[in-house]
Amino acid sequence: MKLDAIYQNRDLVALYDALNPAGADTAFYENMAKDARSVLDIGCGTGLLTARLAQQGKDVTGIDPAAEMLAIARQRPAGELVTWHQNDATSLQLGRKFDLVIMTGHVFQVFQSNEDALAALTTAFNHLCPGGKLVFDSRNPKVCGWKNWIPQKTRKTVSITNIGDVTVEHDLKSVQGEYVTFETRHYFPGTSTASPLINQSTLRFQNQESIANLLANAGFSTVTWRGNWDGEPVRDNSPELIAVAHRAS
Ligand SMILES: C[S@@+](CC[C@H](N)C(=O)[O-])C[C@H]1O[C@@H](n2cnc3c(N)ncnc32)[C@H](O)[C@@H]1O
Repeated sequence: MKLDAIYQNRDLVALYDALNPAGADTAFYENMAKDARSVLDIGCGTGLLTARLAQQGKDVTGIDPAAEMLAIARQRPAGELVTWHQNDATSLQLGRKFDLVIMTGHVFQVFQSNEDALAALTTAFNHLCPGGKLVFDSRNPKVCGWKNWIPQKTRKTVSITNIGDVTVEHDLKSVQGEYVTFETRHYFPGTSTASPLINQSTLRFQNQESIANLLANAGFSTVTWRGNWDGEPVRDNSPELIAVAHRAS
């Protein structure tokens, strides 16, 4: 699978943790993991949650195809407690099973085809112990959150050690069915405002029914859904589609 520059370019990866600090989603996943002894984090990125779970005494493995993201993960506090692998979710075979598999931070939306999305869910299923569960999130297409992905609503400045103040903004480019394409512009100190570092991404916004079908095809027997990080049920205006999918015992 092709990887976005935003996960491969060292200058952009250096901004990830400042732009994506621990939040309500982190607490939600920690709660989901409270009874799990072993956890596989698929698309772990810079490993903020992965390392926190390891610090809580769990046996944790994080996988991600992006070497630059993993380089940060390996060096973070408690990073030495995690087993890291550079791997793609669509073809991962670790040869062991876990109580819990997670895919956080909307990783699921990077899978653009049904084939890749199903392969990732099947990977999760194959790495679960009987009775284990997969928990992951995807943004709810019904709320059209991309409408806010415009510079006036997204521009923010983060202060990065050894780099300085970096301003970042999103700019929606197109919406074609389930596929939303947007540009992220990064203004680093000392660079002209006319020449930001630009990354273009396309994310897929699948509806609940399509995701449920893929989960059934991957082998999951039952799925419960949450619509936000407070754990409320999915409604039309819920920001998230959070699936808690069970592998039968
Ligand atoms: C938005 S980040 C989320 C990172 C982390 N889970 C978090 O919550 O901060 C998306 C991650 O998905 C990873 N990714 C992209 N394609 C992938 C694939 N085919 N298999 C596994 N991970 C993938 C990227 O490298 C990136 O680290």
